[in-house]
Amino acid sequence: MAGEPSYLEKLFSLKGRVAVVTGGMGQLGAQYVGALAAAGAQVAVYDLQGKPNAALKKLAQSHEVRFFAVDITDRRSLEKATDELEAAWGAPGILINNAAIDFPPQPAGEKSVAGSLSQWERVLKVNVTGVFLCCQVIGERMGKARSGSIINISSTYGMVSPDQRIYSAPGRTGQFLKPAAYGVSKAGVLNLTRYLATYWADRGIRVNALSLGGVYNHQEPSFVKNYSQRAPMGRMAREDEYNGAILFLASDASSYMTGANLVIDGGWTAW
Ligand SMILES: NC(=O)c1ccc[n+]([C@@H]2O[C@H](COP(=O)([O-])OP(=O)(O)OC[C@H]3O[C@@H](n4cnc5c(N)ncnc54)[C@H](O)[C@@H]3O)[C@@H](O)[C@H]2O)c1
Repeated sequence: MAGEPSYLEKLFSLKGRVAVVTGGMGQLGAQYVGALAAAGAQVAVYDLQGKPNAALKKLAQSHEVRFFAVDITDRRSLEKATDELEAAWGAPGILINNAAIDFPPQPAGEKSVAGSLSQWERVLKVNVTGVFLCCQVIGERMGKARSGSIINISSTYGMVSPDQRIYSAPGRTGQFLKPAAYGVSKAGVLNLTRYLATYWADRGIRVNALSLGGVYNHQEPSFVKNYSQRAPMGRMAREDEYNGAILFLASDASSYMTGANLVIDGGWTAW
């Protein structure tokens, strides 16, 4: 027989909360969906495709998880999904701005600093404008309820420049560079976080950033080796190693925290 919830369970409980995870179909988004659902939240996945993959479909059989086809750069698509969500479950109280895009490292050359202009514009549109639109559409509804937690996903590259040496590989001729757009977009997310945190503080909405280090996802062995040698903890992150921070930031465990940047990067930015 289940007893009373413990202090710890109450502190981190998300029972009765509605959460939106953008990009919830991706490698890390799917992790966050699982963690939020396990803590008792009703979770809405906003991703380009409305159809879940097998793992998320299975999760939705035992937890309250719904899927919406949403392009975060399209305000109308965000409004439509959020209207449907609100009618079904009520206003969202948690928003994880996780959806983002990136382009692979490119051979060094005159144009490689920013990649092509179209890549630059696309990255900024999804990673910054998309996050801004989600905050506007969903934050407005949180404001009416006078309660909410927004978590904006950033990256070590929003704080420091990439160490370009890790992108060279034995099979590659010449130097490869990670273009500037991704880091610029993630730095933008950090300042949008601070702006909104102060702007919304008196409306009960907390806004924090979570800056992540690289996650192992079957990358080329030479890259994994280069990355691990450069990281103080000597390895890449596992895909489930950010779930604890998500639960902390989403729940009352972080009730006095806003405008902050929680860095989880195996020590990458410590030297
Ligand atoms: N994986 C890493 O090593 C790492 C490191 C640091 C930060 N991050 C950040 O973590 C987040 C998730 O990364 P990931 O590796 O899981 O990415 P991923 O590519 O696996 O997933 C991203 C998801 O976003 C969705 N998406 C893209 N554009 C969209 C749009 N316009 N509208 C709606 N959905 C859209 C994609 O369909 C995909 O499901 C990103 O913000 C990323 O920048 C990742």
